[in-house]
Amino acid sequence: MKKFLALILALCMTFALVACGGGNSNDTTSNNTPSSTNTDTPSGDAKTVGIAMPTKSLERWNRDGAYLDEQFKAAGYNTIVTYSDNKNEQQVNDIQNMLAQGVDLLIIAAIDGAGLNTVMNDAGAAGIPVISYDRLIMNDNATYYVSFDNYTVGKLQGEYVRDALDLDNAAGPFNMEFTAGDPADNNAGYFFNGAMDVIKPYIDSGKVIVKSGQTAFDQVATDQWQTDVALDRAQNVLASYYSDGTQLDAWLCSNDSTSLGVTQAIQADYAGGNAVVITGQDGDEANLRNIKDGAQSMTVYKAVANEAVVTLDLAKAILNGETVDGGLISASGWDFDCAYDTESYETSAGNKCPSFLLVPDVVTADNMEAKLVTPGYYTVGDDGYLKATNG
Ligand code: BGC
Repeated sequence: MKKFLALILALCMTFALVACGGGNSNDTTSNNTPSSTNTDTPSGDAKTVGIAMPTKSLERWNRDGAYLDEQFKAAGYNTIVTYSDNKNEQQVNDIQNMLAQGVDLLIIAAIDGAGLNTVMNDAGAAGIPVISYDRLIMNDNATYYVSFDNYTVGKLQGEYVRDALDLDNAAGPFNMEFTAGDPADNNAGYFFNGAMDVIKPYIDSGKVIVKSGQTAFDQVATDQWQTDVALDRAQNVLASYYSDGTQLDAWLCSNDSTSLGVTQAIQADYAGGNAVVITGQDGDEANLRNIKDGAQSMTVYKAVANEAVVTLDLAKAILNGETVDGGLISASGWDFDCAYDTESYETSAGNKCPSFLLVPDVVTADNMEAKLVTPGYYTVGDDGYLKATNG
């Protein structure tokens, strides 16, 4: 029955796409021509996995897409990979197209966690399992979630600032600002809360002062995690509160794309002579360069190659009709830590989403080679800076 429904749905969608003539794309994917696929010559009975990434313009998703594509193909699956230019409507079209092409399973890193209801319901009706990849989709048809411990990412950033400024012992007060991520991304609030929970007691005690007064997520959020948006706001904050020579001690940024904008603003417009503590997340190449040069203090690294490994083993189990629970971790024998969490994430009020959560790690100038080069995630280029080995 499910197969029959899937076939009808696929036929309807193919007709709808042909009738509409597809759409435009600034990323490398168009609705009818996925950016990367090996379904041109589908191999016999091999199952097909649709991999929907948000955009090529934020560095990490290129790595995620490449790792997932590589690992699923190596395991004998056909893949369709799309990047949707950070446009929700385009991601909806891309996923509809993948359903029309008869994918057996979907892996989706959502642009807007609340913006995929229609297509998620289509997937559910067709019996196609969906794994929320890295970002949780707010729809109960997202059956599993693979990500890192997002709250801990923010906590590590907050703890880094706490320790770098020695907030428990130094006299202070210290001046600090915040930049958070995209409100449409369910992760962004977790990162911000993790960091704020560490720093808030120091704000309350007066040890940390936020001159801009902007301490609420909505005040410091960055639309689509864009570097330019973070840069603009940082320039405004610097012009309004620090142009008289007031010292800025730290700027907590939720990830590397926003950190890049804040760092540019500080380099261009900050009048103080001190090095500002700046956090990040992802290990983007430009940020690793800044860390080596002392312009950014740290990044929280998430080994997306391992996130792809977990996703592959989970997908295999689902497609083989196996019962999936925490037993997958011991059965798979991964050589990295991963927790099975059935409590922390909900796709709707009260509907818990079983989650496989990997462990993030702090990378600084001092441990960069040990954490990133030794395990093979990056190589050192001729210029002495790190280059990602994939994507
Ligand atoms: C990811 C981060 C990334 C951000 C922007 C988040 O959902 O978890 O790793 O920095 O999106 O791409």
